[in-house]
Amino acid sequence: MQQITRRPEVPVRLRRLRRTAPVRALVRETRLDPQQLIYPLFVRGGKRVREPILSMPGQFRLSVDELVAEVGTARHLGIEAVLLFGLPDVKDPLGKGAYAEEGIVQEAVRALRAAYSDLVIITDVCLCEYTSHGHCGVVVDGEVDNDATLDLLARTAVSQAAAGADVVGPSAMMDGQVAALRRGLDEARLGHVAIMSYSAKYASAFYGPFREAADSAPQFGDRRGYQMDPANVREAERELALDLAEGADVVMVKPALAYLDVIARVRPVVPVPLAAYNVSGEYALVKAAAQQGWVDESRVVLEILTAIARAGADLIITYHAKEVAGWLSSR
Ligand code: PBG
Repeated sequence: MQQITRRPEVPVRLRRLRRTAPVRALVRETRLDPQQLIYPLFVRGGKRVREPILSMPGQFRLSVDELVAEVGTARHLGIEAVLLFGLPDVKDPLGKGAYAEEGIVQEAVRALRAAYSDLVIITDVCLCEYTSHGHCGVVVDGEVDNDATLDLLARTAVSQAAAGADVVGPSAMMDGQVAALRRGLDEARLGHVAIMSYSAKYASAFYGPFREAADSAPQFGDRRGYQMDPANVREAERELALDLAEGADVVMVKPALAYLDVIARVRPVVPVPLAAYNVSGEYALVKAAAQQGWVDESRVVLEILTAIARAGADLIITYHAKEVAGWLSSR
């Protein structure tokens, strides 16, 4: 950086631009906007069901009718994009509920699309909520078989896109999944549907509450054989580069808060929009402390999301989306 020379008798006074709230707002480098937020939601069967998720206070497993109502509330607050996860009535080893035409997510997408023509509907593409063993792919001889899983992921994405999803989000961490989805979508004349890839998805303990919410904990072993080692960052660059080469329209780093260095590191080499997922465990930590009165919830949440944006994320997936939109409009 070029050295700034000034006469020694002129004192540096950085506080001048911190004096009043409007001055601070004028020079603020990072701004949050509800339009960059994605609100994740869990959908299940039944009618008029709003089942609280205990480890994620304020989040619910919603039946389709309640989901439509919840999204209506979120839209009034300025949230334009949702990410859907499904809880099927039955599970089986091949996760058939994920790619069933009458699957829970497919039904939810159709209902949301009918209610809100311009809502951005993003669907999670993975098998773990639908498989009886809880793994993200097909298990062969006790291991998740990469290539046997690709076709099922592609079928899942195609069925969600056919139901009306704008964006599909592969999160299974199978090699080649973006290419498999792109091929499947294009062959099904769904070339307009975008792929937001969970590219650098780490094997994280911060997914704990989600697995309770989605009933998707693996029944044996763990996900370290396919999700990334939290110790690695160069490998994240490779994952992102591969997904871009396979045709990803948006790439993601997940989780967000413990991986801000990863976001900042990949930002300059990622030419597409970069998403970060502020995951369930990050949400639960804040909620637990706030319920005790130990932290100021709105300030902590806004500080965390600002940090994720400052690190370089364009889009932020967060369970706080609705609350944040409310806080931002009342400031
Ligand atoms: C599905 C999936 C998971 C999350 C998003 N998609 C769980 C996992 O990989 O175990 C986690 C999201 C969160 O914790 O908020 N594979």
